[in-house]
Amino acid sequence: MYQDLLNGLYNANNLTNQAQQILYLQNLQEDVKSLRRAFTVYPVQFDYTNNKIQASYLLTYFPHYTELLQVALNKTNSTIATENINNLLLFGSGPCPEIIGYLKYLNEHNANNNRTIKASIYDIASTHWQYSRNIVFNNIVPNLKKQSIINQTAKDLRIDNSFTANPIAEKSLVVFQNCLNEITEDKHQVVVDNFSKIYTAIPQGSYIVIIDLSEYDSVINLITRIQTTLSSNDTAQIIRNVSEGGLNRQSSYANPIPFIRENLLTGIPFQVQNGLIPKRHIKFTYIIIKKT
Ligand SMILES: C[S@@+](CC[C@H](N)C(=O)[O-])C[C@H]1O[C@@H](n2cnc3c(N)ncnc32)[C@H](O)[C@@H]1O
Repeated sequence: MYQDLLNGLYNANNLTNQAQQILYLQNLQEDVKSLRRAFTVYPVQFDYTNNKIQASYLLTYFPHYTELLQVALNKTNSTIATENINNLLLFGSGPCPEIIGYLKYLNEHNANNNRTIKASIYDIASTHWQYSRNIVFNNIVPNLKKQSIINQTAKDLRIDNSFTANPIAEKSLVVFQNCLNEITEDKHQVVVDNFSKIYTAIPQGSYIVIIDLSEYDSVINLITRIQTTLSSNDTAQIIRNVSEGGLNRQSSYANPIPFIRENLLTGIPFQVQNGLIPKRHIKFTYIIIKKT
């Protein structure tokens, strides 16, 4: 994963020799630090329109977040994998680790056979995130898609502005991952109402999955409100309840490749606190609601 991301970044920035590549990573150190500082404050406010910030996100957060949807869907064991759901609605998905999570989940259950998967991406900055999405769809997705075809469309949309959700014919998987911590509390009711509209729009057999970092009380409160509102529908089946609590998961990507350790994430765990220690654990929670 890390080498594929680097190859995509080298390509996008025309970095053809090792000296340029080393300099590029060393110059990203300040961006990694400022990105991490932004994530320590609620609500997170960050300018994802900057390509160096996106590169920092790809190398420090993205790999870890490719596992979250896989972990969440495994709550159902192979059930969702066998239900042939190929329409993904991904909100606040930025560089789109969710598509990787879904493909990993399908592959784990040998259920990725000649599908045509459509990923519709809705994000406040989807146009800007195209820089990273291209890297992900050109360098990571091909390794996982097997014989399936993955189509994507992206649209700029704010989840904290009231929107209209048109009825959707195809059974869908709706995912909100790591974006609720960027919503201010005064907009929470609008977000809850938008979830109700999405629930009404999706057909029977669809799922709504919300995954978010468990360290912000405000985010847990919002997820609880969404869960309470959606579960007032007779058709709603709660498959994973927010009251089951958060998980503290050791990431499979805790050890970046040596080139990244030497030039970007140079911090040594428990020793040099320079803001450049590779992430090791992900604390998150999730809910899964099925429309039956
Ligand atoms: C921390 S990133 C998470 C990206 C991806 N879901 C992941 O797990 O890596 C937060 C994402 O939410 C998007 N976002 C922030 N506020 C938003 C809003 N009001 N409406 C829609 N998307 C928003 C950002 O552009 C960004 O892509």
